[in-house]
Amino acid sequence: MCGIVGAVGHDRCGAVLLDALKRLEYRGYDSSGIVTLHNGQIDLRRAVGKLVHLETALAAQPLNGHIGIGHTRWATHGGVSEVNAHPHVAANRVSIVHNGIIENSTLLKKFLVSKGHKFKSQTDTEVIVHLITENLKTENIVDSIKKTLKALHGSFALGIIFKDKPDLIVGARRGSPLAVGYGPNENYLGSDSYALKSMTNKITYLNDGEFCVIKKDHVEFFSEDGTKINKKVLELSSEEEKYDKGDYKHFMAKEIEEQPLTLKNGIKEYIDNANDDINIYNFPWKKNEISSITLIGCGTAYHSCLMAKYWFEELTSLDVSVDIASEFRYRKNRFKKDSLYVFVSQSGETADTYAALDLCNKNGMKTCAVVNVIESSIARDSEFVLPIHCGTEIGVASTKAFLGQILILYILALKLGILRGDLERKHLSRKLNDLKKLPELIEQTLLTDNKIQNISSTFNEAKGSMFLGRGFSYPIALEGALKLKELSYVHAEGYPAGEMKHGPLALIEEGMPVVVLAPRDNYYKKTISNMQEVIARGAKVLLITNKSSDEVISENIWETIEVESTNEDLLPFLLTIPLQKLAYYSALKKGFDIDKPRNLAKSVTVE
Ligand code: M6R
Repeated sequence: MCGIVGAVGHDRCGAVLLDALKRLEYRGYDSSGIVTLHNGQIDLRRAVGKLVHLETALAAQPLNGHIGIGHTRWATHGGVSEVNAHPHVAANRVSIVHNGIIENSTLLKKFLVSKGHKFKSQTDTEVIVHLITENLKTENIVDSIKKTLKALHGSFALGIIFKDKPDLIVGARRGSPLAVGYGPNENYLGSDSYALKSMTNKITYLNDGEFCVIKKDHVEFFSEDGTKINKKVLELSSEEEKYDKGDYKHFMAKEIEEQPLTLKNGIKEYIDNANDDINIYNFPWKKNEISSITLIGCGTAYHSCLMAKYWFEELTSLDVSVDIASEFRYRKNRFKKDSLYVFVSQSGETADTYAALDLCNKNGMKTCAVVNVIESSIARDSEFVLPIHCGTEIGVASTKAFLGQILILYILALKLGILRGDLERKHLSRKLNDLKKLPELIEQTLLTDNKIQNISSTFNEAKGSMFLGRGFSYPIALEGALKLKELSYVHAEGYPAGEMKHGPLALIEEGMPVVVLAPRDNYYKKTISNMQEVIARGAKVLLITNKSSDEVISENIWETIEVESTNEDLLPFLLTIPLQKLAYYSALKKGFDIDKPRNLAKSVTVE
């Protein structure tokens, strides 16, 4: 989703900003642009599509100057076009980049038009830059920013430069993340620390409502009401993780194959081998302080929450609920003192999940984050953080982060089971032993490649497909369908196998591909019956089960894939692998952009 960068004091500003934008590409975008101030003039380049188009424009007409801002845009208001791309400029005086949505832009635009402002784009962003220009007629810079921010409804991260003030950039945040970076006689602005990392590892994050004035040799921070505030400078690790694809065609392929390592890292971090225990010794709450748990996330992270519900119910006596963040944040929630709210997010920046966390914080709830990006807003604003230790995930379709999330949630369920006395020590030992063997089983399951490649064509050719599962396999069915949808753009529906007869069975027709997840667990026999019901109506069933000496007793199964065997709790990890590969190969055969599917973004920072 939209990315912001800014630099002041650097003598190759255009080039530095382009490099920083490249680091934001992973978030997803459809156009980009950079503006600099040079010889007292605002100089702008924008391009639709990939950054390489902006790079070409810059090669033809380089941008000079010591100060500038840049942007990757993911369209919200107004289509994908050069005129809607950021930065936007008003009255040739002020230029802005924006991440977020201005909800009252129509009203503000009316007011500004009545004052004589002329608009060029269909964006909500252009309203902000005109409003600043309007306020500058009577106010100084800080006051005009304060007044403008007060008038805006919605969410934003902003970077602003002024023709008449060639030594400063203004940054402002409400809802969308923003950070300041410090260099030697040059300073920066960026949507996240990753964008800034090629330039500096010294960072300050803005909190909601704050704004800042960045000059090359110092930065001033202000609260919403314009009061000056002091903020900490954080020193992040200066080690750069390697982000290349290696020998893989796509990041997604690499990330799928990395999963045994992801799990090993998580297990190493959270299992105390010496004491046969769980290494979350700093868990901040006592057993009688929590009687219920609510898990909240979006997309794949929501599926992780749903998966965890089954484990929490199995391993603890807690009341468990699961919520989609965009629903939770607007519902009339009944907050209870002894509830723990767990926020699951790979990026830690998802706007809806952050808003749900913010709501819980404001209501004095206990909050815990399960995140991959530990410097993220969700991690910073949660009381307790459980990192998933997956390393950077670039593919928009989440793979290793999903397994990382469910691993940590499973470990948290074990921890709470032991803490509350719901789970016996001897059972914990057995489960931890099985868990330690899981990375190797994932490695073996990853070998079932050829079969899935062949099967994937059938899913591409069909009108649609269904993914069915019961119990522990149901959230995995949802995740499998989501992966296929987002990568191959074919309709896929995840459903509880037992619910088919209440409606969706009507969709089944001759030759429709249906994935049935039926591992040999408690639900096995029931799921096999449901599978027979769809086969009887003409479905082409791909059965995914685990290896067993007992044969599957059913006829007319189209294809079967067998994953490795382990205890019931852990089978969902293994069932996920063939589904990720199915989605990958389907998209590969269609020649789609696997790492950046159309219309999607890695970090969803608008609601
Ligand atoms: O960064 P988050 O985990 O908060 O992101 C949540 C969803 O946007 C994300 O899982 C999305 O559904 C993925 N594209 C799914 O593959």
